[in-house]
Amino acid sequence: NFIIIITIVIAFICGSIPTGYLITKKICGIDIRTKDSGNIGSTNVKRIVGAKISIITQIIDILKGVVPVFLAINLIKMIKLPISNNAYLSIIAIVVILGHDYTPFLKFNGGKGVNTTIGAFILLAPAATLIGVAVHFIFRSFTDIVSIRSIALGVTIPIICIIMKLPIEVIISTTVACILMIFRHKSNLIRLINKEER
Ligand code: G3P
Repeated sequence: NFIIIITIVIAFICGSIPTGYLITKKICGIDIRTKDSGNIGSTNVKRIVGAKISIITQIIDILKGVVPVFLAINLIKMIKLPISNNAYLSIIAIVVILGHDYTPFLKFNGGKGVNTTIGAFILLAPAATLIGVAVHFIFRSFTDIVSIRSIALGVTIPIICIIMKLPIEVIISTTVACILMIFRHKSNLIRLINKEER
């Protein structure tokens, strides 16, 4: 139980690293939270400081999801946990996303969790996650608005998990991640309704 709690705390701290904020602050000396959408994610980083730094942000935000789940997968090979492996890995995935979205380093106001969700589920539900990413790309033909594509990605992952009859813990955690992602896009949704979203 102690190991479960420690690893959950580490996953949260890992997710909490505000990549986009730190990189743009250190390299460009700007506070990304005061620019355009105010989001610390790679989309806003691209708008404000360009593609190169955005890609670095994106890779690190994805890795923030991958690394804790990868370490947790290796941990469960070594020790027996009091909960199912899928439940444990699902908790780690959700916690890392929560860390990103509600980072204590930025007064609990972090990102929208798209890249970190991809990273957190790529090992737990690889096909569903990749199909979600593919939907994001396919939607590019229909819309330039990234938030619509992100929400489509978020909704696709649990739907594919259900279709593929993945373990219930994975279905629940991807659904929670999807709801969280939609919730974190509420300012985008308001702008979309008002036809103000860029
Ligand atoms: O991945 C975040 C994206 O869906 C929306 O970003 O900056 O347009 O709010 P932004």
